[in-house]
Amino acid sequence: MTKDILVIGTGISGLTFAIKVAEENPKTSLTLISKSDIKEGNTRYAQGGIAVVRNLKKDSTEKHFQDTLVAGDGYCDPKVVKFVVEEANQRLDELIKWGTSFDKKEKKLDLGIEGGHSESRIVHYKDQTGKQIQEVLITKVKSFSNITILENHTLVDLITDHHSTIKKNRCYGAYVISQEREEIIKITAKITVLSTGGAGSLYAHTTNPSVATGDGLGAAYRAKVLMNHLPYVQFHPTALKYKIDGKVFLITEAVRGAGGKLCNSAQDRFMLKADPRADLAPRDIVAREIQKQIQEQDADSVWLDGSEIPKMEWKSRFPTIYNTCKSLGINLPKDPIPVVPAAHYFCGGIKVNKHSESELKGLYAIGECSATGLHGANRLASNSLLEALVFAHRAAINCIEFLGKPMPSEAFYKTLPEWNGDSYSKNDTIKNVQRLRKELQEIMTTNVGIFKTNKGLKQAQEKINNIYIKVQKLYNQNKLTNSLCELRNMVSIAYLLTKQAQEIKENRGVFYNHNHAR
Ligand code: SIN
Repeated sequence: MTKDILVIGTGISGLTFAIKVAEENPKTSLTLISKSDIKEGNTRYAQGGIAVVRNLKKDSTEKHFQDTLVAGDGYCDPKVVKFVVEEANQRLDELIKWGTSFDKKEKKLDLGIEGGHSESRIVHYKDQTGKQIQEVLITKVKSFSNITILENHTLVDLITDHHSTIKKNRCYGAYVISQEREEIIKITAKITVLSTGGAGSLYAHTTNPSVATGDGLGAAYRAKVLMNHLPYVQFHPTALKYKIDGKVFLITEAVRGAGGKLCNSAQDRFMLKADPRADLAPRDIVAREIQKQIQEQDADSVWLDGSEIPKMEWKSRFPTIYNTCKSLGINLPKDPIPVVPAAHYFCGGIKVNKHSESELKGLYAIGECSATGLHGANRLASNSLLEALVFAHRAAINCIEFLGKPMPSEAFYKTLPEWNGDSYSKNDTIKNVQRLRKELQEIMTTNVGIFKTNKGLKQAQEKINNIYIKVQKLYNQNKLTNSLCELRNMVSIAYLLTKQAQEIKENRGVFYNHNHAR
């Protein structure tokens, strides 16, 4: 049977969307798929919080609006920014009603500050905000009988007119790997929602988990869906220099909000000279300045000095960071933390309207894989969880309306073909996949990272083209595996991102090419 809605991805946006639709309309059938465990994804690692104007004595939505525009460096859509900051409170109240807790001070929400914010407005739960929200949402999503959850299911391709004889410029669901059944299945749906996150794994050093391979972006690219602002990849200024179990560990910007100061190996507080907002300048400025310091000093990190933050505060407000540092012999607050920038967030993605509809009918995108117009050229800290909540809500309302409109018949969906490519293999026998993934990450990190040049981008494009050809060959000659699927998406996005980067002629926000004047 064709589902009403197929949701691909189980971070804050996908879960919130599914809950809203299921709650509003219990007759709607939803299938929710995640590539691995339902918990794995970027949301779980979001330490900072949600930007919401709560203290109306000092703060206002107008200030939040302005801060977002300033951080976005001229590329935000002001209409979008306006409704997002205005709808923030309602969305936060809903989360609280559903059982999410946030830190409080004297019975009121404790509001933190992060880079680019002119007031304290970050609602948080210790340094585990995303994890706490996701756990509540997962419990809630599991309580609906009209939601089917399929873990360990990987998106392969969207089903579109390309698979049909009738041309309606429409999406009809997706081909998906069932890792358990070891086959590629067809899930037809009247509406398909991509909430698949970004593609931080394109870079060697990223705060994202390894599942962040741009699967929705890759599938949308192959379906010829319009994508905007892909080269605006935000690097988080402060990731721990050392990897933990092979993973980069984030040091939330909230640490700088609480009094942490950046300095270089010569103990120089370089941010004081770089920007009047110093350590709390928007992320693009801080990340670039750190990278410059590292290059100029031939160092392998700069230092985050948290000695002004009392030990008690470290333990209560930042317990994960405190304990992780301790396990590495970094004793807070005494010892400074060695930090480096790391790829963090895709400001661009699938172009959507204010209801999260893409240009392909029946295909919606929410969360990091979408380009809503909120972030412009540089996302303001803690605006991402907010965007996910606001657009999940808007998409849910719009989808319910959309389902009431004339739809293709069940008989039509039955005419859509089963997957006709090679089948799936659980055994990752293709040795080249890991090597090519690493090669791609090295190219992106060296030539398409924080600082770019025309020559570097051109070289990257040539090398990516070569990898693209090799991946295509692997795809044509082998059974599909999860890692091949991921690599296929990564190389497509690297290709498009690098191509778009060469078309950009001025530096704005996170985009910086040494050959441009601005
Ligand atoms: C952080 O905690 O610094 C990350 C939050 C965000 O990316 O907005």
